[in-house]
Amino acid sequence: MQNFDYRNPTHIVFGQNRLGELDNLVPDDAKVLVLYGGGSVKRFGTLDRVLAGLGNRTVLEFGGIEPNPKFETLMKAVDLARKEQVDFLLAVGGGSVMDGTKFIAAAVPFQGDEASLLSHGFAPLPIAEALPLATVATLPATGSEMNMGAVVSYQGGKFPVMSPLLFPQFSVLDPTLTYSLPTVQVANGVVDAFVHVLEQYVTYPTGAMVQDRTAEGILKSLIEVGPVTLAEPENYEARANLMWSATCALNGFIGAGVPHDWATHMIGHELTALFGVDHAQSLAIVLPSLWQHRKDKKHAKLLQYAERVWDITEGTEAERIDAAIGKTRDFFESLGVKTRLSDYGIQQDQIEEVVKALEAHGMVALSETGDLTPAISRQILEDAYA
Ligand code: NZQ
Ligand code: ZN
Repeated sequence: MQNFDYRNPTHIVFGQNRLGELDNLVPDDAKVLVLYGGGSVKRFGTLDRVLAGLGNRTVLEFGGIEPNPKFETLMKAVDLARKEQVDFLLAVGGGSVMDGTKFIAAAVPFQGDEASLLSHGFAPLPIAEALPLATVATLPATGSEMNMGAVVSYQGGKFPVMSPLLFPQFSVLDPTLTYSLPTVQVANGVVDAFVHVLEQYVTYPTGAMVQDRTAEGILKSLIEVGPVTLAEPENYEARANLMWSATCALNGFIGAGVPHDWATHMIGHELTALFGVDHAQSLAIVLPSLWQHRKDKKHAKLLQYAERVWDITEGTEAERIDAAIGKTRDFFESLGVKTRLSDYGIQQDQIEEVVKALEAHGMVALSETGDLTPAISRQILEDAYA
């Protein structure tokens, strides 16, 4: 196990009917900006319940944060927050709204070109302060509700934004607020959370027993509850387990002291930016093909994954690994998330655009070993085609 620091200051408020507690969670004298997306929180009544929970505080609203939130949209909220001097941000929505709110929290007190905040990759932002923020999560998927990261779309790319100042102060996780999700978003959530675990687990062994066993537990939970929560959207137990799985997949715990990959995410981000495929769909396309190309590097962990997650113990090592990759692809497909580029109407000759975008964004040395080149990304995408 590598040396690590681990801290997670986010207070989780999990369970049904807890929006009334906002009154205790938000400072009494806060001037609050409530941020949301395209309107689902209005349609399904969540926003009204949030506003009621905030009691007599001064509250402003900013709606219209789109999926894969755009810098330009977020800057409108930054202008509003500066003009009105709000001092607390409350995101009500999915990963896009939570991420957008984190960017706004960093940008409001920032003096300088706000777009420069998108140029630091996975390194912490060079900022000394951020507005305090909190979330009411309505989509279990990204883990944004309990981590310090965000992803912002700008000029045809998707850029990570990271800072310990951007952990939500608290996040309300009420599984019943997610019952209104369309099936496709629930399936996306299962796949995104699943791949978050895999990017921190299927690398190379470092003897991190707690992280490995926890990762395997989250994967097995997702395999179990994914189909149930799709078939029975109002089965509380299944949805609650999906929600907590998604949060635990990317709150730093399983990733502490172990190598990380993230190549599937980085290649997937370009697919979303160029062709508009949903974030989780991009991961379902890339991951099985990436593993086929990287099974030598990931040999030991793929075998461990095969045995402990899918109970595959028969056959040669190569056969067990292939079976585990096949099971993973079948799992995504069984949820209705397609795993081939051609399923999304992308043409084979467009693969070159993806490779160029990876190069333009400096994504030329990906993976846990830093040796996944654009040439390998090209092969991965060609094999992901059909
Ligand atoms: O905008 P509204 O009208 O609210 O509709 C949204 C949106 O259309 C809808 N929705 C959300 N909650 C709902 C609901 N519809 C009905 N009922 C509800 N309860 O769902 C649609 C998708 O929402 P979005 O927030 O875009 O989805 P998701 O949570 O999957 O977030 C994706 C974003 O998160 C980033 C992705 O790159 C992408 O931009 N990620 C953030 C990460 C992080 N911060 O750690 C890690 C991830 O790997 C990911 O990259
Ligand atoms: Zn993701």
